[in-house]
Amino acid sequence: MSSWPDIPLEDTFGDVLRKAMRGNSIDGATLAARTGIGASAIEAWLADDGSANAREARALAKALKLNPERTVERAANAFAPPKVAMDGVQQHTQDSRPNSNGYVIFRGDRKRAALVDPAGTPQRLLQLLRDGGFDLQYILITHKHNDHCGAVAAVAKEYPHAQIVMHPLDAPAIGALASTALAASDGATFPFGDDAHIRVLHTPGHTDGSVCYVVDPIVFTGDILFSGSVGGAYGDKSTYADVLRSVSTKIFTLPETTVIMPGHGPPSTVGVERAHDPFF
Ligand SMILES: [Fe+2]
Repeated sequence: MSSWPDIPLEDTFGDVLRKAMRGNSIDGATLAARTGIGASAIEAWLADDGSANAREARALAKALKLNPERTVERAANAFAPPKVAMDGVQQHTQDSRPNSNGYVIFRGDRKRAALVDPAGTPQRLLQLLRDGGFDLQYILITHKHNDHCGAVAAVAKEYPHAQIVMHPLDAPAIGALASTALAASDGATFPFGDDAHIRVLHTPGHTDGSVCYVVDPIVFTGDILFSGSVGGAYGDKSTYADVLRSVSTKIFTLPETTVIMPGHGPPSTVGVERAHDPFF
């Protein structure tokens, strides 16, 4: 059984603070005034220089609408996600740039495969697909950012029969290929391998067309949810509130044992994130 390599959480405590401040439209001076914490201390924590003690973390959580005890845990650097098995999944962007997580999930002897987020050096990715002997059925794109779909043209050229799947709101990012893509609409399902299927959850917030793909027992979350944090809100229309709503209503309602494979940082499970993510 292969398991995940040791990689650090995507977001530091400083990143959590920054996202919550931005999401709540609270600047450093206002946060200092509302918590009684010195502005220079907050500045330092945002730069990952030191961290809040438990009392300070609770004050920050109250001002930023974070979960107090989980914020204490993150501030103390005391949270680590569980090790999860990676059978039937390969991380294809490991050790490459950009440092996003892309995946190949495969099923059965014929290695019917779906590629999640084609990014990184195209030659490297194509070599990995060839070496693995995968029969590529789908190219699943979680969202429009280049570190998640920048290599789609190269893969589509080499695997013209693989169906690209992407939400219509983000699909313009892949240019002419968008016209050939299947729509990753909320609730859509696609048959996969001999007896599996891929289910789409529309999870706007990071971008308007951000989606998650559920291939039981895994959910590929792209940049909407990271272990111990959430993705930043960079939608044209969708907001920080949408990020929180998408995670709580679409991802946290999946079975607790569902394995989360995010677009950055280590994997986790729905049960662990529901119990530890400071944003909830
Ligand atoms: Fe992104």
